[in-house]
Amino acid sequence: MRKGVKIVTIGGGSSYTPELVEGFIKRYDSLPVRELWLVDIPEGEEKLNIVGNLAKRMVQKAGVPIDIHLTLDRREALKDADFVTTQFRVGLLAARAKDERIPLKYNVIGQETNGPGGLFKGLRTIPVILDIVKDMEELCPNAWLINFTNPAGMVTEAVLRHSNWKRIIGLCNVPISIQMGVAKLLEVESSRVHVDFAGLNHMVFGLNVYLDGKNITQAFLEEMTKHKSDTMKNIAAIDWEPDFIKALGVIPCGYHRYYYKQAEMLQNELQEAAEQGTRAEVVQQLEKELFELYKDENLAIKPPQLEKRGGAYYSDAACSLIDSMYNDRRDIQPVNTINNGAIASIPDESAVEISSIITRDGPKPIAIGDLPVAVRGLVQQIKSFERVSAEAAVTGNYHTALLAMTINPLLPSDKVAKQILDEMLEAHKEHLPQFFKEEVIY
Ligand code: G6P
Repeated sequence: MRKGVKIVTIGGGSSYTPELVEGFIKRYDSLPVRELWLVDIPEGEEKLNIVGNLAKRMVQKAGVPIDIHLTLDRREALKDADFVTTQFRVGLLAARAKDERIPLKYNVIGQETNGPGGLFKGLRTIPVILDIVKDMEELCPNAWLINFTNPAGMVTEAVLRHSNWKRIIGLCNVPISIQMGVAKLLEVESSRVHVDFAGLNHMVFGLNVYLDGKNITQAFLEEMTKHKSDTMKNIAAIDWEPDFIKALGVIPCGYHRYYYKQAEMLQNELQEAAEQGTRAEVVQQLEKELFELYKDENLAIKPPQLEKRGGAYYSDAACSLIDSMYNDRRDIQPVNTINNGAIASIPDESAVEISSIITRDGPKPIAIGDLPVAVRGLVQQIKSFERVSAEAAVTGNYHTALLAMTINPLLPSDKVAKQILDEMLEAHKEHLPQFFKEEVIY
């Protein structure tokens, strides 16, 4: 085995980077990271320097010999990497704010990864990921790409379907947050709890809950209805209808509220947007505060304020995944990977989010047979949405994008879908060159 691991993080100037650095420091004994390359684009250089210097102070304080490199040269960084993590945001938070604001004008959910916002984030992101993959084929063909960039499910689907690169894993903090939430509610150590996950990214269900190996799913669902809802910081924790949860028989994720509580979530979004701003607007303010803190030369740990962001536990998810792959641990973790028959009603070659055995050669999804009939259709519909969206992102075809928008269950009609599409295409023009190619006149 090689002496140390080279990690490259694209979007390294992100405010989430200290999470990752903390995760690598904690695991240094089993996962000896030798080099961590934080890569960003020129517009992100200032943030990269601030967060990169904090990362350097963190490793120094912890006394671990991880070399931190900061660069704007992605190709230089990628050379001989072992793991490449991606956490960038094309168009930065300003683009996310548009993804949230524009649909709301039409009384449609405005959200980072669901509905029109999810489509547009995919349209902006997928061409960039496919470029990164091309660089990786050339510069680090044996590396694994661990993608956190949203919409993580659609991005994983796009790489699996529209490139020759198979060494990709999509990662999200939703399953780990559910698992931690279960432990909290049961008031037990999280190591005593196990949840079987299956579905898609931000559309994942906890199929079975175990406490000390005993299946307690139905009893847990009963218990869940007696408590106030708890979700990630970016999703309004509007309580579920208790009888619905008991009838559902599986644990929904926070994002399912946009589908099963669409009216309440929309009302809530409209009110929040008017009173304090959309989530992106709130996060823009939070980011300013975080970067002010990161600048403090006396700060050498991940500041607790980062926990106000939706991405809690994401470093745990990412670092335990890399650690398990590096050490061939064969433990079970929920990831986005190629289905290969694990969920019967989803195409074999599609990406699913599912509990998998993590090996040196990648995740091996644990077959579940099929999803319960009540949720199967929605999952399939979202998979269709992801596939059509990915195709639109790759081709830049207007009609394909309209199709993706219209088949999304959060859209009320083809007409509204077209209005939102047209307005959003114009608003995001700068980051969607594939839709605005110069016509060649002969
Ligand atoms: C959750 C989701 C992530 C998302 C994040 C947004 O953690 O799982 O996919 O990026 O929330 O958090 P933010 O603080 O940016 O709203």
